[in-house]
Amino acid sequence: MNAIADHDLRAGIVMTCREINRTGLNQGTSGNVSHRIEGGMLITPTSLPYDRMTPGDIVPMSFDATYEGRHRPSSEWRFHRDILKAREDVNVVLHTHSVFCTTLAVHERGIPAFHYMIAVAGGNDIRCSPYVCFGTQELSDRALAALEGRYACLLGHHGLIVVAKTFERALWLAVEVETLAKMYVHALAIGEPPRLSDAEMAQVHEQIRRMSYGQAPDLDEVSDTPRVIASGG
Ligand code: 13P
Repeated sequence: MNAIADHDLRAGIVMTCREINRTGLNQGTSGNVSHRIEGGMLITPTSLPYDRMTPGDIVPMSFDATYEGRHRPSSEWRFHRDILKAREDVNVVLHTHSVFCTTLAVHERGIPAFHYMIAVAGGNDIRCSPYVCFGTQELSDRALAALEGRYACLLGHHGLIVVAKTFERALWLAVEVETLAKMYVHALAIGEPPRLSDAEMAQVHEQIRRMSYGQAPDLDEVSDTPRVIASGG
């Protein structure tokens, strides 16, 4: 990797960390962010407050678990590594203890299809993996299973993971999932809300695909952007 790409990715990780603080998705030093590089990843160091973090603090780590530099990698390097190895469709892994996702996760509850926007996480629900201790291989195994066919999962008694191609997309998705969790917690106050059916969700997935819904217009992932919206229909 050339020096500019390396610096840009390090700066992107720091920017993402600052954004998850600014948006209230993160408090204190919980949470961590990684980005794929050839043969490994760049990852946030463990236990360093985001407001003091600079691009030089980011830790380069190989998939063989060796790392360089003056800081130790995040205690959650195992699930960052295993997700990036297993999921070639994503480059970024973002983990937070955001309040509403964690409120559901401490009850070992995922988020069902109570609202159509659940589809942006890739399926008809967001799963919650069973509790295991932070920083373990078992947590990584369970996170990977909960992420099967999804871009987000909850970790029991712990928090949230989102995965995406880009930093921007990961931040967007983390905000959307935290908002869904907040809505679901509020909805539960007056009882378990009815679920959208598989057929209704299939229509939502198709609509998202057709409209490239949720993708900023300057992203090259956009597949089908209409130039003129037909009137009268
Ligand atoms: P690190 O500071 O080691 O990344 O740990 C924070 C965390 O969220 C553990 O799950």
